[in-house]
Amino acid sequence: NLNIVSFAFQNSKSAQGLVGLKNLGNTCFMNSILQCLSNTHSLRDYCLHNSHRRDLNNNSRTNTALMEEFAKLIQTMWASSSSEAVSPSEFKTQIQRYAPRFVGYNQQDAQEFLRFLLDGLHNEVNRVTVRPRGTVEDFDHLLDEEKGKKMWSKYLEREDSKIVDLFVGQLKSSLTCSYCGFCSTVFDPFWDLSLPISKKGYGEVSLMDCMRLFTKEDILDGDEKPTCYRCKARRRCTKKFTIQKFPKILVLHLKRFSEARRTSKLSTFVNFPMKDLDLREFYTRKINAVYNLYAVSNHSGTTMGGHYTAYCRNPNSGEWYTFNDSRVTPMSSSQVRSSDAYVLFYELASSSRM
Ligand SMILES: *[C@@H]1O[C@H](CO)[C@@H](O)[C@H](O)[C@H]1NC(C)=O
Ligand SMILES: *[C@@H]1O[C@H](CO)[C@@H](O)[C@H](O)[C@H]1NC(C)=O
Ligand SMILES: *[C@@H]1O[C@H](CO)[C@@H](O)[C@H](O)[C@H]1NC(C)=O
Repeated sequence: NLNIVSFAFQNSKSAQGLVGLKNLGNTCFMNSILQCLSNTHSLRDYCLHNSHRRDLNNNSRTNTALMEEFAKLIQTMWASSSSEAVSPSEFKTQIQRYAPRFVGYNQQDAQEFLRFLLDGLHNEVNRVTVRPRGTVEDFDHLLDEEKGKKMWSKYLEREDSKIVDLFVGQLKSSLTCSYCGFCSTVFDPFWDLSLPISKKGYGEVSLMDCMRLFTKEDILDGDEKPTCYRCKARRRCTKKFTIQKFPKILVLHLKRFSEARRTSKLSTFVNFPMKDLDLREFYTRKINAVYNLYAVSNHSGTTMGGHYTAYCRNPNSGEWYTFNDSRVTPMSSSQVRSSDAYVLFYELASSSRM
């Protein structure tokens, strides 16, 4: 009996964090992402311990109200003794200041919203207050491993925050000339990975299939032919991604919507593991990269009129809950996988050493 279960969990100590968010008019996309972030253990603790205060960028040109409102909201959600839903309206005012596109009450894309939010929070707690002047340094003579490290330190010289510590990884793309065999590499930071959904007839596909499609060797030919660094001429090349550095929190976005969005949605069932997602084969170095799932943003409905909910594993109790705007209900972990899963949040297992 679900009512008895609900009653029991509302009265237990583990009830913390089990607070719904009021829908302010088509804001379920925001509520869904906020619940996923609220259940992100280290980010939650960063707010609960007020550690963000120390990092708030206090040069007068940087407004820090977004981080402050975000932390206040997380604190309210985790300190609340009642099960009454909380209104995120002050937080919403701040995110709108940062990203005016979220003004108004239109249904938005949860993944785009997550990007804007993390970027906004990062900017307000960036440990770098004066960015170094951009210098052109050539690392092409270095071995890949060394070059990747240099590029990462250069990134940290400009972008360095708790948010970066948690969410940012590094992608390596290798371009190999089919004529002379020369391979050039480029390293880029990533905040999440947008995975294409592989199509295999009508059946389900696995998350590994999507990862393999994302990292599959691609041929650049015809109009797309890049200039080979060694031949100094445009050549047919192959391009391939590998992960150079895995983040602590890996956000995987399933590309259910076509590029021109709002036209069609793929409802393919993507089977993803809840535990022990082993991504070693995509790693440049062959060391462990094992992740466990802790939150999912679920999108149901069509591109125009859809509804977002979140499934999150409570970091205190380890139990799963459905967050449907103001309603929070216990759920079984067996219900988490569905063809509505849209954004997946994985945490690096503590046994994986980076
Ligand atoms: C904020 O300002 C104080 C001094 O006014 C300084 O000690 C502190 O380091 C500054 N914090 C940051 C993150 O810049
Ligand atoms: C995902 O959410 C939609 C409603 O938003 C719902 O219809 C669907 O059942 C949900 N999936 C699961 C597994 O609960
Ligand atoms: C979310 O709640 C609404 C009512 O507020 C309900 O109509 C809808 O079915 C719920 N969706 C899920 C997935 O629980």
